[in-house]
Amino acid sequence: MTILSDNLPGDKLQSEHGFAVHVQTSSTSVLFDTGQGAVFSANARSLGIDLESLDLLVLSHGHYDHTGNVAQVLAYNPGIHVHCHPAVLLSRYGVRHGKAFPIGIPDASRAALLSLPADQLHRSAQFHRLTEGVYFSGTIPRVTSFEDTGGNFFLDSTLFHQDTLHDDMALYIVHGDALTVVTGCCHSGIVNTVTHAMSCFPNVRLHTVLGGLHLLNASQERLERTIHALAQLNLTALVLCHCTGSAQGNAVKRALGDIVSLGHTGLQLDFTA
Ligand SMILES: [Fe+2]
Ligand SMILES: [Fe+2]
Repeated sequence: MTILSDNLPGDKLQSEHGFAVHVQTSSTSVLFDTGQGAVFSANARSLGIDLESLDLLVLSHGHYDHTGNVAQVLAYNPGIHVHCHPAVLLSRYGVRHGKAFPIGIPDASRAALLSLPADQLHRSAQFHRLTEGVYFSGTIPRVTSFEDTGGNFFLDSTLFHQDTLHDDMALYIVHGDALTVVTGCCHSGIVNTVTHAMSCFPNVRLHTVLGGLHLLNASQERLERTIHALAQLNLTALVLCHCTGSAQGNAVKRALGDIVSLGHTGLQLDFTA
Protein backbone atom coordinates (compact mmCIF):
# COMPACT_ATOMS: atom_id res chain seq x y z
CA MET A 1 0.00 0.00 0.00
CA THR A 2 1.50 3.37 -1.01
CA ILE A 3 0.22 6.86 -0.23
CA LEU A 4 0.39 8.96 -3.42
CA SER A 5 -1.39 12.10 -2.23
CA ASP A 6 -1.52 13.46 1.29
CA ASN A 7 -1.26 16.72 3.22
CA LEU A 8 2.20 15.81 4.53
CA PRO A 9 5.16 15.40 2.14
CA GLY A 10 7.50 12.46 2.13
CA ASP A 11 11.20 12.62 1.25
CA LYS A 12 11.59 14.34 -2.15
CA LEU A 13 7.84 14.05 -2.67
CA GLN A 14 5.16 16.70 -2.88
CA SER A 15 2.09 17.23 -0.72
CA GLU A 16 -1.33 18.77 -1.27
CA HIS A 17 -4.66 18.93 0.47
CA GLY A 18 -5.82 15.61 -0.89
CA PHE A 19 -5.67 11.87 -0.54
CA ALA A 20 -4.90 8.89 -2.74
CA VAL A 21 -3.61 5.41 -1.88
CA HIS A 22 -2.42 2.70 -4.24
CA VAL A 23 -3.00 -0.91 -3.18
CA GLN A 24 -1.21 -3.70 -5.00
CA THR A 25 -2.45 -7.23 -4.33
CA SER A 26 -0.91 -10.33 -5.86
CA SER A 27 -3.23 -9.96 -8.84
CA THR A 28 -4.77 -6.52 -8.91
CA SER A 29 -3.73 -2.88 -8.97
CA VAL A 30 -6.25 -0.81 -7.01
CA LEU A 31 -6.37 2.97 -6.60
CA PHE A 32 -8.36 4.43 -3.69
CA ASP A 33 -9.06 8.11 -4.47
CA THR A 34 -7.13 10.31 -6.88
CA GLY A 35 -5.94 13.31 -4.84
CA GLN A 36 -6.67 16.87 -5.89
CA GLY A 37 -4.03 18.07 -8.35
CA ALA A 38 -0.73 17.38 -10.09
CA VAL A 39 0.97 16.09 -6.93
CA PHE A 40 -0.72 12.71 -7.33
CA SER A 41 0.81 11.72 -10.67
CA ALA A 42 4.18 13.38 -9.93
CA ASN A 43 4.51 11.32 -6.77
CA ALA A 44 3.39 8.13 -8.53
CA ARG A 45 6.14 8.68 -11.12
CA SER A 46 8.76 9.29 -8.43
CA LEU A 47 7.67 6.17 -6.56
CA GLY A 48 7.56 3.94 -9.64
CA ILE A 49 3.82 3.31 -9.35
CA ASP A 50 2.44 2.64 -12.82
CA LEU A 51 -0.75 4.67 -13.23
CA GLU A 52 -1.36 3.12 -16.65
CA SER A 53 -2.02 -0.42 -15.47
CA LEU A 54 -4.68 0.13 -12.84
CA ASP A 55 -7.47 -2.45 -12.67
CA LEU A 56 -9.80 -0.75 -10.19
CA LEU A 57 -10.52 2.78 -9.02
CA VAL A 58 -12.49 3.20 -5.78
CA LEU A 59 -13.74 6.63 -4.73
CA SER A 60 -14.22 7.27 -1.02
CA HIS A 61 -16.65 10.15 -1.58
CA GLY A 62 -17.38 13.03 -3.93
CA HIS A 63 -15.15 15.79 -2.54
CA TYR A 64 -12.75 17.57 -4.92
CA ASP A 65 -9.63 16.63 -2.94
CA HIS A 66 -10.30 12.91 -3.57
CA THR A 67 -11.65 13.07 -7.11
CA GLY A 68 -9.41 15.65 -8.79
CA ASN A 69 -7.63 13.28 -11.17
CA VAL A 70 -10.44 10.91 -12.17
CA ALA A 71 -10.39 12.04 -15.82
CA GLN A 72 -6.63 11.49 -16.04
CA VAL A 73 -6.84 8.04 -14.43
CA LEU A 74 -9.64 6.96 -16.76
CA ALA A 75 -7.78 8.29 -19.81
CA TYR A 76 -4.70 6.25 -18.81
CA ASN A 77 -6.80 3.13 -18.19
CA PRO A 78 -9.68 2.79 -20.67
CA GLY A 79 -10.61 -0.65 -19.32
CA ILE A 80 -10.62 0.30 -15.63
CA HIS A 81 -13.58 -0.55 -13.39
CA VAL A 82 -14.73 2.20 -11.02
CA HIS A 83 -16.56 1.57 -7.75
CA CYS A 84 -18.27 4.42 -5.92
CA HIS A 85 -21.49 5.37 -4.21
CA PRO A 86 -24.06 6.91 -6.62
CA ALA A 87 -24.00 10.18 -4.64
CA VAL A 88 -20.34 10.77 -5.57
CA LEU A 89 -21.64 12.66 -8.61
CA LEU A 90 -23.65 15.26 -6.64
CA SER A 91 -22.74 18.94 -6.51
CA ARG A 92 -21.60 19.91 -3.02
CA TYR A 93 -20.69 23.07 -1.14
CA GLY A 94 -18.74 24.18 1.87
CA VAL A 95 -18.95 27.57 3.61
CA ARG A 96 -16.16 30.13 3.62
CA HIS A 97 -16.61 33.63 5.10
CA GLY A 98 -20.35 32.96 5.21
CA LYS A 99 -20.55 32.16 1.50
CA ALA A 100 -20.99 28.89 -0.36
CA PHE A 101 -18.09 27.56 -2.37
CA PRO A 102 -18.06 24.36 -4.45
CA ILE A 103 -16.23 21.38 -2.98
CA GLY A 104 -17.79 18.56 -5.01
CA ILE A 105 -16.36 16.39 -7.73
CA PRO A 106 -14.85 18.53 -10.54
CA ASP A 107 -16.88 18.72 -13.77
CA ALA A 108 -14.16 16.95 -15.78
CA SER A 109 -14.12 14.05 -13.31
CA ARG A 110 -17.92 13.73 -13.35
CA ALA A 111 -17.99 13.80 -17.15
CA ALA A 112 -15.25 11.16 -17.34
CA LEU A 113 -17.16 8.84 -15.00
CA LEU A 114 -20.38 9.26 -16.97
CA SER A 115 -18.60 8.54 -20.23
CA LEU A 116 -17.45 5.11 -19.01
CA PRO A 117 -19.19 2.07 -20.50
CA ALA A 118 -22.03 1.14 -18.14
CA ASP A 119 -20.46 -2.19 -17.20
CA GLN A 120 -17.31 -0.41 -15.95
CA LEU A 121 -19.02 2.06 -13.59
CA HIS A 122 -20.25 0.29 -10.48
CA ARG A 123 -22.37 2.73 -8.48
CA SER A 124 -23.32 0.93 -5.32
CA ALA A 125 -24.27 1.60 -1.72
CA GLN A 126 -23.74 -2.06 -0.79
CA PHE A 127 -20.78 -3.78 0.82
CA HIS A 128 -19.11 -5.94 -1.83
CA ARG A 129 -15.91 -7.72 -2.76
CA LEU A 130 -13.67 -5.88 -5.22
CA THR A 131 -10.91 -8.43 -5.69
CA GLU A 132 -9.22 -11.07 -3.58
CA GLY A 133 -8.93 -9.65 -0.04
CA VAL A 134 -10.20 -6.16 -0.93
CA TYR A 135 -13.73 -4.97 -0.19
CA PHE A 136 -15.90 -1.87 -0.73
CA SER A 137 -17.54 -0.89 2.55
CA GLY A 138 -20.89 0.22 1.19
CA THR A 139 -22.92 2.59 3.34
CA ILE A 140 -21.44 2.90 6.82
CA PRO A 141 -24.23 3.02 9.44
CA ARG A 142 -24.05 6.10 11.67
CA VAL A 143 -24.60 4.55 15.07
CA THR A 144 -22.57 6.67 17.51
CA SER A 145 -24.14 9.70 19.19
CA PHE A 146 -20.93 11.74 19.21
CA GLU A 147 -19.76 11.60 15.56
CA ASP A 148 -20.91 13.81 12.69
CA THR A 149 -19.67 14.63 9.17
CA GLY A 150 -17.02 16.92 10.63
CA GLY A 151 -18.03 20.13 8.92
CA ASN A 152 -20.66 22.43 7.46
CA PHE A 153 -21.49 20.68 4.21
CA PHE A 154 -24.37 21.43 1.85
CA LEU A 155 -25.88 20.08 -1.38
CA ASP A 156 -26.92 23.48 -2.77
CA SER A 157 -25.33 26.89 -3.10
CA THR A 158 -28.11 28.48 -1.02
CA LEU A 159 -26.78 26.42 1.91
CA PHE A 160 -30.24 25.03 2.62
CA HIS A 161 -29.90 21.26 2.19
CA GLN A 162 -27.37 19.77 4.57
CA ASP A 163 -25.02 17.20 3.01
CA THR A 164 -24.84 14.08 5.15
CA LEU A 165 -22.02 12.67 2.98
CA HIS A 166 -23.79 9.33 2.88
CA ASP A 167 -21.49 8.41 -0.03
CA ASP A 168 -18.56 8.18 2.41
CA MET A 169 -17.00 4.75 1.80
CA ALA A 170 -13.95 2.94 3.14
CA LEU A 171 -11.77 0.16 1.79
CA TYR A 172 -11.50 -3.04 3.84
CA ILE A 173 -8.46 -5.21 3.20
CA VAL A 174 -8.19 -8.72 4.65
CA HIS A 175 -4.64 -10.08 4.82
CA GLY A 176 -4.22 -13.43 6.52
CA ASP A 177 -6.30 -13.29 9.69
CA ALA A 178 -6.07 -9.50 9.89
CA LEU A 179 -8.13 -6.56 8.66
CA THR A 180 -6.92 -3.16 7.52
CA VAL A 181 -9.34 -0.26 7.11
CA VAL A 182 -8.48 2.60 4.73
CA THR A 183 -10.57 5.77 5.04
CA GLY A 184 -10.79 8.82 2.77
CA CYS A 185 -12.11 11.71 4.90
CA CYS A 186 -14.09 9.44 7.22
CA HIS A 187 -17.16 11.68 7.19
CA SER A 188 -19.06 8.72 8.69
CA GLY A 189 -16.85 8.89 11.78
CA ILE A 190 -13.97 6.54 12.53
CA VAL A 191 -15.80 4.70 15.30
CA ASN A 192 -18.76 4.05 13.00
CA THR A 193 -16.36 2.95 10.27
CA VAL A 194 -14.38 0.45 12.32
CA THR A 195 -17.58 -0.84 13.93
CA HIS A 196 -18.99 -1.54 10.47
CA ALA A 197 -15.73 -3.08 9.24
CA MET A 198 -15.59 -5.46 12.18
CA SER A 199 -19.23 -6.43 11.68
CA CYS A 200 -18.42 -7.36 8.06
CA PHE A 201 -15.52 -9.59 9.19
CA PRO A 202 -16.42 -10.93 12.65
CA ASN A 203 -13.70 -13.59 12.65
CA VAL A 204 -10.80 -11.37 11.61
CA ARG A 205 -8.85 -9.11 13.99
CA LEU A 206 -8.55 -5.41 13.25
CA HIS A 207 -4.87 -4.75 12.46
CA THR A 208 -4.36 -1.31 10.90
CA VAL A 209 -6.41 1.82 10.31
CA LEU A 210 -4.99 4.27 7.77
CA GLY A 211 -6.51 7.45 6.37
CA GLY A 212 -8.06 10.79 7.11
CA LEU A 213 -10.12 10.85 10.30
CA HIS A 214 -11.52 14.37 9.81
CA LEU A 215 -11.23 15.29 13.47
CA LEU A 216 -10.04 18.84 12.81
CA ASN A 217 -13.39 20.34 13.80
CA ALA A 218 -14.18 17.74 16.46
CA SER A 219 -15.56 18.84 19.81
CA GLN A 220 -13.59 17.91 22.91
CA GLU A 221 -16.26 15.34 23.72
CA ARG A 222 -16.01 13.75 20.28
CA LEU A 223 -12.24 13.67 20.45
CA GLU A 224 -12.21 12.08 23.91
CA ARG A 225 -14.86 9.49 23.06
CA THR A 226 -13.10 8.67 19.77
CA ILE A 227 -9.78 8.17 21.56
CA HIS A 228 -11.47 6.01 24.17
CA ALA A 229 -13.07 3.83 21.46
CA LEU A 230 -9.84 3.54 19.44
CA ALA A 231 -7.96 2.51 22.59
CA GLN A 232 -10.29 -0.50 23.00
CA LEU A 233 -9.45 -1.87 19.55
CA ASN A 234 -5.99 -3.31 20.25
CA LEU A 235 -4.76 -1.97 16.90
CA THR A 236 -1.31 -2.82 15.59
CA ALA A 237 -1.04 0.50 13.74
CA LEU A 238 -3.04 3.70 13.33
CA VAL A 239 -1.75 5.92 10.50
CA LEU A 240 -3.25 9.41 10.63
CA CYS A 241 -3.48 11.12 7.24
CA HIS A 242 -4.96 13.99 5.28
CA CYS A 243 -7.73 15.77 7.22
CA THR A 244 -7.21 14.28 10.70
CA GLY A 245 -6.05 17.65 12.11
CA SER A 246 -2.63 18.13 13.68
CA ALA A 247 -3.71 19.06 17.24
CA GLN A 248 -6.26 16.26 17.20
CA GLY A 249 -3.72 13.82 15.77
CA ASN A 250 -1.29 14.76 18.53
CA ALA A 251 -3.97 14.11 21.14
CA VAL A 252 -4.62 10.67 19.62
CA LYS A 253 -0.90 9.95 19.61
CA ARG A 254 -0.44 11.05 23.22
CA ALA A 255 -3.24 8.74 24.29
CA LEU A 256 -2.47 5.68 22.15
CA GLY A 257 1.31 5.89 21.98
CA ASP A 258 3.65 4.15 19.56
CA ILE A 259 1.00 2.45 17.44
CA VAL A 260 0.12 5.91 16.09
CA SER A 261 2.10 7.51 13.25
CA LEU A 262 1.57 10.30 10.75
CA GLY A 263 0.91 9.35 7.16
CA HIS A 264 2.65 11.19 4.33
CA THR A 265 3.17 10.89 0.60
CA GLY A 266 5.36 7.93 -0.22
CA LEU A 267 4.54 5.98 2.95
CA GLN A 268 4.48 2.28 2.10
CA LEU A 269 3.00 -0.52 4.18
CA ASP A 270 3.58 -4.15 3.30
CA PHE A 271 1.10 -6.73 4.57
CA THR A 272 2.51 -9.74 2.74
CA ALA A 273 4.84 -10.85 5.55
FE1 LIG B 1 -10.64 15.13 2.16
FE1 LIG C 1 -14.20 15.05 2.37
